[in-house]
Formats: sequence, structure tokens, C-alpha cells
Amino acid sequence: MNLPARVTVVEVGPRDGLQNEPVAIPTADKAALVEALAGAGLPVIEAASFVSPRWVPQLADGAEVLASVRRRPGARYAALVPNLRGFEAAAAAGADEVAVFGAASETFSRRNLNCSIEASLERFAEVTAAARAREIPVRGYVSCVLGCPYEGAVAPGAVARVARRLLQLGCREISLGDTVGVGTPGAVQALVDRVAEEVPRERLAVHFHDTYGQALANVLAALERGVAVVDASVGGLGGCPYAPGASGNLATEDLLYMLRGLGVETGADLDGVVAAAWRISERLGRPPASRVARARAAARGGSCLPLHPARRDNPRCSHGE
Ligand code: HMG
Ligand code: MG
Repeated sequence: MNLPARVTVVEVGPRDGLQNEPVAIPTADKAALVEALAGAGLPVIEAASFVSPRWVPQLADGAEVLASVRRRPGARYAALVPNLRGFEAAAAAGADEVAVFGAASETFSRRNLNCSIEASLERFAEVTAAARAREIPVRGYVSCVLGCPYEGAVAPGAVARVARRLLQLGCREISLGDTVGVGTPGAVQALVDRVAEEVPRERLAVHFHDTYGQALANVLAALERGVAVVDASVGGLGGCPYAPGASGNLATEDLLYMLRGLGVETGADLDGVVAAAWRISERLGRPPASRVARARAAARGGSCLPLHPARRDNPRCSHGE
């Protein structure tokens, strides 16, 4: 296999994960999650979102989260922004970097951002101009790169066009999002090869949701095509409120376990991420979706389910330590 020696894992759980939760998570718990993930050595944590609180009420406390987090030197704390207003709020809250999010599908763009792809790019141009002036790096997501919940198939050329525009606007990295998790490895490789005609591979990241259980295989397919930045979400949390049917993201623990087995460096501590996955899962009242988090708990003294009673009754259950 032709794999990169090192992969940068971008942790999106506090944003992509928690934006989809029906229960309100207290700000302190969000901050604790961010701190635990940075403490586990993850280099980039997407910690907040500065979108309309009417659209995504779950993340309305982004400024408070960023203010509460004790920053770990070397870690970068990122925020999702849809427009200039979101950028200004993220910058004021001390985000180290921001991410704009476009789509390769016109219908998804309208559902998610309430505007056309073209209009979204005009908004992003305002963000990248303001960010350049403040020397804040901007990442650009392209959603629905392997399929759209409203339009079905999406042509790789449509993804490449949006990715190129984001790069031209000044995004330093383009994350290709399989928002609904329908992609398979062959389609991933064809997509990366097509997008790489417009955007250098070293500027690409991949972002897989695991709806059909293809996320890890898709990562491997992308790594073989020269991608070395991978998004993942602790505990496999996640989904987009405007992508019906989409499940959680690829779990960070599952990704780290695979990369470690392949001898690919990440600098992250698997056990620390597993502990963070169990802690946030307890707050959410369900076990992590991640296979690795469950396997680790089982290996340490049996199943940790049901969550709270297991922690009280089973002293060997040490996932929270
Ligand atoms: P709109 O309704 O068209 O915009 O929403 P508007 O300009 O008419 O404003 C509507 C209201 O939002 C107004 O408030 C504005 O002030 C306010 P009101 O007068 O009604 O009280 N507003 C804002 N408030 C806070 N922060 C802001 C902001 N902007 C406007 N930045 C808008 C347009 C973009 C705001 C809306 O559509 C929106 O917030 N969309 C976000 C949807 C979202 O967050 N989706 C999930 C993230 S994307 C994702 O998960 C995919 C990804 O993971 C990759 C993948 O998986 O593929 C990234
Ligand atoms: Mg996503």
C-alpha cells in the first residue's frame, strides 16, 4: 500500500457531532470534551459553530465554549462559519481558524445555507477577505461530494468546480464531505483523482459519515490517493440536521486504531480519545457508536452498558479514568 507516513486528524466531534444531538449539552460539558480531545494530542479541534441559533440551536453557545476552554499549547481551535457575521463572532471568540461550508449540490446548498452555491461562494469571499486581513486560516468544506440526500448522484466535476473556487478564494485546505455517507472506495478514488486536477492533493482532506459502514474503507482509499488529512468525530457522533438519514461521522478512535495498525503517525493518544468518547456518551445517555470504544470497554471488564449503573457497579470499568 502506498500510504502517507503521517496523517493529520481533524477532530470535528464537538461541532459536527453535537450539532445533531436532540438533547442540550451544557457549555461546561462541551468545553470539557474539547479539552479532553486536545489533551489526547489531537492537533485540530473544530470546537464551535457560529451559524444562526434558529437553524442550529444546539451550538448557540459557541462563544462561551471557546471562552471556557483551557487552551493546550500547539492545539488549534476551529469554528464553522456560514457568513461574515459568523466569522466576526468566531474571531472575537478567539477561534484560531474558521471553516466555510459549501456544497456540490444545489438543493443541499439551499437547504443548508438558504442560498444557491453561487451566492454561498459570494458570502465566503467576504469571509476569506476578512480572514486574510486578520491572518486567520480558512478551511473550505464541500458537502455532498459522493451523493446528495435530495438530488442523488453528484458528478465529481461538480465537486471539483466548487473545490477550485474555494481554493481561489483563499481556503488553505479543502475538506471533501460525504455528508450522507453513501460513498464507496472506488468512487472515493475517482473523486480524489478528479478533484486533484483542480486542487493539489496536499491541500485536500476527507470527511466521511459512516451511514453505510464505508468510512474506514473510504479513508484508506483516499490515503492511497495521496490525501493526508482526515476528519473524524469522537465516539462516531454526528450528522447534519439538513441531511436526513445521515448517520454519525467516522469515529476518531476507529480511525486512530486503523492508522496505528498501518504504522501511520498521528501524534494522538488512542486511550485518551476512547475515554473522551465514553464520557460524552454518558452525557448523551447512550454508548459510543465506535467499535473501538466498545471493544476497549469490553476488554477492560465487560460491557459498560447500561452506562451509569455500570460505572457505579463495576469497579473494573475504567473507561472514564
Ligand atoms: P437565512 O435565514 O437565510 O439568513 O440563514 P438571514 O441573513 O436572513 O438571517 C436569518 C437569521 O439568522 C437572522 O436572525 C440573522 O440575524 C441570523 P433573526 O433576525 O431571524 O433573529 N444570522 C445569524 N445568527 C448568528 N450567526 C450567524 C448568522 N447569520 C445570520 N452567522 C444562514 C442563512 C446561513 C445563517 C442559515 O442558513 C444557517 O445558519 N445555516 C447553517 C446550517 C448549519 O449549520 N448546518 C450544519 C453544518 S454543515 C455540515 O454539517 C456539513 C459538514 O459537516 C461537511 C459534511 O458533512 O459534508 C460541514
Ligand atoms: Mg459532516
